[in-house]
Amino acid sequence: MNIKEINWEAQLDTSLVSKSVIEALNTKKIFRYQYKSTKSAVNKLEELICDYVGSKFSLATSSATNAIFLALKSLGIDENSKVLIPSFTFTAVPSAVVQCGAEPVLVDITENYVIDLKDLEVKISTSQAKYLLLSHMRGHLCDMDKVVEICKKNDVVLIEDAAHALGVKWKGRFAGTFGLLGIFSLQSYKVINAGEGGILITNDPYIFWKTVVMSGSYEDNYLSHSIHNQEIASSYKNQLPVFNVRMNVLTAAAAIPQLQKIEETIENLNEKYFRFVETMSHIDVIEFPNLNSKLRVVRDSVQFRIKVDEESRLKFKLKLNEAGIPISYFGGENNNNARLYKNWKFLCKNDFSLEKTDKNLSEVFDIRLPIHFTNECIDCISAEVSRILLPFIK
Ligand SMILES: Cc1ncc(COP(=O)(O)O)c(C=O)c1O
Repeated sequence: MNIKEINWEAQLDTSLVSKSVIEALNTKKIFRYQYKSTKSAVNKLEELICDYVGSKFSLATSSATNAIFLALKSLGIDENSKVLIPSFTFTAVPSAVVQCGAEPVLVDITENYVIDLKDLEVKISTSQAKYLLLSHMRGHLCDMDKVVEICKKNDVVLIEDAAHALGVKWKGRFAGTFGLLGIFSLQSYKVINAGEGGILITNDPYIFWKTVVMSGSYEDNYLSHSIHNQEIASSYKNQLPVFNVRMNVLTAAAAIPQLQKIEETIENLNEKYFRFVETMSHIDVIEFPNLNSKLRVVRDSVQFRIKVDEESRLKFKLKLNEAGIPISYFGGENNNNARLYKNWKFLCKNDFSLEKTDKNLSEVFDIRLPIHFTNECIDCISAEVSRILLPFIK
């Protein structure tokens, strides 16, 4: 196989989803609230997610970012609030905080790409923030027992941005279920590819119904959601702003068959990831993240450090890109990667000193490993990465 033959774009498995999407099309109703006496595909998706992760309530939205926004609004977060977030996350995360008028407080990350719990305690005490929006960036989880304990001890509400961590488990429990609310993304580069989409989960009926109403469930539309605690919903009618960030029926119809076989997909993804790690393990300047035995990982991308000097790293990236490998890099100057806090110029306060984050990301590279990759693709990428890296190793 030639590296140029590899298709790096996420590809929808049409043989898997077409039956469900065509069935949805044939109803001629693609707005979820057009279903009065039957369940829409959006309802079915919400039920399936609850069953899968073990949550009481779930709400499908147009994106994870919008689900995060609703989550924050449901907690009453406003211009008087501060929200702690890890300094390594996608730009949409601080954006959702800003959209509520609140101030993001950035917390350093460790060498394992997760929030630094020591810095979290420092920032809780210096900022007096009462909310932690914990992004499990690239599916990496911190010690969930400890973070829950820190939040409880300090009266901090935990919201999990598990946008990129659907299926990841900490000691057998799903990411997204540790916080008061959890959020998943169904955007194309995630384990479930529905183009765009988000899911919010919670066990709290009051929070749930607030998010339902604010997502765009105006008048009596809440009646077509699952039947739990609908009297709570009626009490929010016309009391809350409505942002219209609902999921449509076709998106849900594309997601359902993928969710039904998610465990198989995860097994496949992890197999490819570990194959890549294995085939690169002979190169001692490459460092992969340590495996934590408490975690069931879901690896649809690979992060690794390259222990060569900065100039070599930049040249290495350039050569890989020229070879057709869309690798990204978290270090270097003039890097416009949207996951770097220095590029969140829209933040009013952006004079952060996050030395650990700078250091811990400076050598890190990132490659997507989409679901359709075969063993042949993985071997071809490994061979090409090794070949290009070799001249930079002294
Ligand atoms: C950690 C994280 N949070 C939030 C998002 C936003 O998800 P969406 O594109 O569904 O809004 C992403 C998207 O990549 C992400 O990686």
